[in-house]
Amino acid sequence: MTQRLTFPADEAALDSILSWTRERILSGPDPRNGAQSQAVLEAALGNAITPDGIEATRAFALFTDSIIPSIRPFNHPTSLAFVAAAPTPASLAFDAALGAAEIFAGNWDGGSGAIHAENQALSWLASLAGWPSSAGGAFVSGGTLGNLSALHAARAAWTKERPDRWRILCSSEAHSSIAAVARVMDAELVMVDADACGSMSGAAARAAMTSGVFAIVGNAGATNCGAIDDLEGLANLAAEHDIWLHVDGAYGLAALGDPETRKAFNGIERADSFIVDPHKWLFAPYDSCALVYRDPIKGAQAHGQQGAYLDTLDHTAWNPSDYALQLTRRARGLPLWFSLVTYGTQAYAQAIAKTVQIARDLACEIDATPNLELLLGPQLTVVLFKATNLKGPELAEWCEVQRRSGALLCLPTKWRGEEVLRLCIVNPETDTNHVMNVLRTLT
Ligand SMILES: Cc1ncc(COP(=O)(O)O)c(C=O)c1O
Repeated sequence: MTQRLTFPADEAALDSILSWTRERILSGPDPRNGAQSQAVLEAALGNAITPDGIEATRAFALFTDSIIPSIRPFNHPTSLAFVAAAPTPASLAFDAALGAAEIFAGNWDGGSGAIHAENQALSWLASLAGWPSSAGGAFVSGGTLGNLSALHAARAAWTKERPDRWRILCSSEAHSSIAAVARVMDAELVMVDADACGSMSGAAARAAMTSGVFAIVGNAGATNCGAIDDLEGLANLAAEHDIWLHVDGAYGLAALGDPETRKAFNGIERADSFIVDPHKWLFAPYDSCALVYRDPIKGAQAHGQQGAYLDTLDHTAWNPSDYALQLTRRARGLPLWFSLVTYGTQAYAQAIAKTVQIARDLACEIDATPNLELLLGPQLTVVLFKATNLKGPELAEWCEVQRRSGALLCLPTKWRGEEVLRLCIVNPETDTNHVMNVLRTLT
């Protein structure tokens, strides 16, 4: 063991950190935890950073006693707002080891084995999409950066005369990150009205097509309603105009892993790039987004960094920094790889199918409950509904009471201008009976 003189290791503290980590993985978070005010945190943490330090045991106590209670427990099975998380025990345990291994996975030279393993996970995803084995890409921190990297590659691949205005065509249900990306790229969004279920048809996209569109973004699981766009129709349109089709499947494309649900994504075989976040519905921890290009050379032509200090690197090797807007990176795709290797793809298929079934059961039960009105879904695992006799501040209060007690995290959203409730299930341990018992208190 190397003796560290400058920053000595505290073995007792290390043991207690590891034992807390073990317990946390086995027991999961406390569902009653949630955001605290700046004032409460100020009082709890005090002036934690001092010239002399307070040693690891006390520093760690600040984390367990003051920081953890303020953290929303997204990976609890009762957490059904936003798109939550449900990392497997193996992926969480491995992630702790991954941190300790301190792998520089920006380029092959720093992290070859880790990158090779990450690429196995990307290849698995590409094969589920029906893409050739030459497809590839990189893991980035999240869907927002994945969408930006893909759309930058899409514009770089443009070979026609430069238009007056760069444009991205997407659905009115596209995730907010697409608008953010357009702003960063100084591109205009051509927003196509989605249909009653939140899906963009090929025909609607065609009618909105205009000059300067360098990419079509298809939804494969819209965040608000779970809708999947007409990927086949969008692929036809992209081919006719010789432009890029990017599929945003940050949430939904996890369901490629379930052969039954896979059919809903027909057309994805013809896209140029897609993203899917393992930290959403692929049972891996924060933070990772798989960005896959059908033709990775197009990704590499758009990305990558040059500098005298990088000249010694082997640019013929697979460097993840060549495929996205990133240089230094942790091997954030490895926890997914480890989880897949541990449990097998069959277990993944079953877990995804189980969540789909939970969403169906919940939709059925909601539909059958007086004073609850099922509005849409399930689409993938999103269900939209309303409580006919509760709205506005009263509904917000009900949501807050359920959150605070740890019973359920269910928050309102807007659907067609109306305030509604939304459930999104990504956790195979979510218990339908429990959720329904809570929802019945709405009536
Ligand atoms: C469809 C979709 N795209 C993109 C994103 C952005 O992903 P991230 O939050 O990982 O940046 C999300 C996040 O919920 C999403 O649901």
